Amino acid sequence: MVVIGGGPGGYVAAIKASQLGLKTACVEKRGSLGGTCTNVGCIPSKALLNNSHIYHQTIHDLKSRGIDVENVNLNLPNMMKAKEKAVAGLARGIEGLFRKYGVTYIKGHGKFVGTNKIEIDELDGKKTTVQAKDIIIATGSEPAPFKGLEVDEKQIVTSTGALSLEKVPEKLVVIGGGIIGLELGSVWHRLGSEVTVVEYLSSIDPDHFDINENHLHCLTDSKSLLKILQKQGLKFKLDTKVIDASKKDGRVLVNVEPSKGGNRETVCIFDFPKSLALLLESDVVLVSIGRRPYTENLGLENVGIDVDEKGRIKIDSQFRTSKPNIRCIGDVTYGAMLAHKAEEEGVAAVEYIVGGYGHVNYDVIPSVIYTHPEVAWCGKTEEEVKETKRPYRVGTFPFLANSRARTNDDAEGFVKMISDQETDAILGVHIIGPNAGEMIGEAVLAMEYGASSEDIARTCHAHPTLSEALKEAALATYSKSINF
Ligand code: FAD
Ligand code: NAI
Repeated sequence: MVVIGGGPGGYVAAIKASQLGLKTACVEKRGSLGGTCTNVGCIPSKALLNNSHIYHQTIHDLKSRGIDVENVNLNLPNMMKAKEKAVAGLARGIEGLFRKYGVTYIKGHGKFVGTNKIEIDELDGKKTTVQAKDIIIATGSEPAPFKGLEVDEKQIVTSTGALSLEKVPEKLVVIGGGIIGLELGSVWHRLGSEVTVVEYLSSIDPDHFDINENHLHCLTDSKSLLKILQKQGLKFKLDTKVIDASKKDGRVLVNVEPSKGGNRETVCIFDFPKSLALLLESDVVLVSIGRRPYTENLGLENVGIDVDEKGRIKIDSQFRTSKPNIRCIGDVTYGAMLAHKAEEEGVAAVEYIVGGYGHVNYDVIPSVIYTHPEVAWCGKTEEEVKETKRPYRVGTFPFLANSRARTNDDAEGFVKMISDQETDAILGVHIIGPNAGEMIGEAVLAMEYGASSEDIARTCHAHPTLSEALKEAALATYSKSINF
């Protein structure tokens, strides 16, 4: 078997295939394994999020904790080096795993020249052709371009450039208040930039995160991620669309207007000047308006593999493309663009090839936004459950009532659990709070096993831990919360 693409989808598929007895090769053109995630995505962004948080906390938060520090300086080159160390170590680790599991790593660009044949332009200049009975496409995604805005990765940057800026921009305009905009906007805001996020929609709260915490009776003012980030100092221009941007005197001028048609009311609400359009001045502009499937020069047309109108490779429920021996997984096909989703698909696609059966439970794929506090969710929102017309219950618990969060003086946010009123099965869990990304794991496991809210409520949780908030939210689904 040959896997094209060595990202989280591709490298995991290759290891799995080798473990299950297939002679396997993985073709990767980047010169480094781990794909977008390890090289210019999950890993470098989390390194910067972690270290920028420590820096910000050191400046703003240590005094009240009884720690006096003086002369705190940001050493951006060293922060970047720490990021690069994490990336390089993890990418090398995957090469080690390939050696351990006997996967042949071919460094180069792969292109279909037949349904069983791939031509590879190797990085060292050689051209080779490999034959395979089965092929998995895992070529991932790339930043969606903004029409008319030429990315130079210095002043007008995608996430890739925003992970490697040489100095902290005085002003950063972020186009798109999605996950990349919020995470990388947070990084640069913490390091000292004045960050303005321009978002087309009325909200930055992601589609499947349930922000409605009416059940909380006002013990907390952390009503939404938007309010929390605004309190931290990030600026937002919602209902606003970027028209264009241009460079002038070393700065970038970003032209924006209200997205709902520009009538005067909208203009007033969002503090626009009298003219409908507004110029935002910035040193750096981050374009983060989504990602699109990457199939450049893959030779899909040579073998007749179909893509949809968004460029996603069409697949059936067994990850088969229009050519049944060629399967496809991860960002380049349907579904959430998440590393762990790509990994699950990699394993399932290989299991289909080897044993005829594989499975991904798309109902329990967790999502996490690594801001501070983090946002994490899994399963359905209350609105989605409502639409199914099944009776349900909701339990919420604020971190202000959680002893560990209070001890840590880090108590913004809440846990919300939605359960089926008749069966008590957990239908969705939504968390804004410290370590939400780790905590959601317990909810995901519970849902994977079909647990009830009472199962979590009756499970002993260590004290004092943040995870007790999940137990309390479970208790709250049947109005038996102890600590709130
Ligand atoms: P990719 O990781 O994109 O890998 C595809 C690989 O294929 C690439 O290395 C590419 O070089 C190679 N390739 C493409 N074409 C060819 C060819 N013809 N021949 C040879 N090689 C080829 N997801 C999360 O779950 N958590 C996060 O915290 C997170 N953070 C992110 C932060 C940022 C800034 C970005 C941009 C993304 C983030 N993501 C995160 C998304 C995550 O990176 C992707 O969902 C994931 O990498 C998709 O994996 P993949 O294997 O499908 O594709
Ligand atoms: P996104 O789809 O999450 O958000 C893009 C935002 O840009 C949307 O809210 C959209 O309304 C807005 N937008 C589009 N055009 C606009 C315009 N002209 N003016 C103003 N706003 C505009 O895309 P993003 O943030 O680029 O991330 C891509 C993907 O990468 C994510 O969807 C996610 O799958 C993945 N990712 C995951 C992370 C995680 O799991 N923690 C972290 C970072 C990325």
